[in-house]
Amino acid sequence: MQKHRSDKRLAELAAAPHISVLFVCLGNICRSPAAEGVLRDIVDRNGAQDRWTIDSAGTGDYHTGDLPDRRMRVHARMRGLELTHHARQVREADFDDFDLIIPMDASNERHLRRMAPTPEAESKIIPMMDFCTMATCYDYVPDPYYEGSEGFELVLDLLADTCSNLYTTLTPR
Ligand code: 4NP
Repeated sequence: MQKHRSDKRLAELAAAPHISVLFVCLGNICRSPAAEGVLRDIVDRNGAQDRWTIDSAGTGDYHTGDLPDRRMRVHARMRGLELTHHARQVREADFDDFDLIIPMDASNERHLRRMAPTPEAESKIIPMMDFCTMATCYDYVPDPYYEGSEGFELVLDLLADTCSNLYTTLTPR
């Protein structure tokens, strides 16, 4: 049922002239700024910048103003991506400002659902892994903060797949 409702929302957005997407994780220094960078790169390579607004935020405020974690910037740069976002906390106005609000894991999702001011606002929340097409044992984007290099690489692999599917789902042929 939940999935059916999000399919309808995605079909409507695919027909819209402009789409705004907000990626959300906990600290806004690893997963969500990386998702922002990965999707922006896909949008840029397709010359679709005028159609997309892309941003990211964290449910926590521990890192407000910070650049992405140095390890995430290094791993992203190895894939040709420069991450320049400065961290900010998610706010209620984001539910007015964005068409889609995309949490990385179940904890981020619960936080957003509690924050959503209306059912219409809550319907903008679609988990990142709903867009996953690759074979993986994960049903969330795992927090790499306390992991080694392979944690950051895993996040970037999952984001490459999910962002690509997000882009094609919302881009009319
Ligand atoms: P993120 O990772 O949610 O992907 O940005 C984290 C970054 C910082 C912390 C936790 C997760 N922290 O506890 O400071």
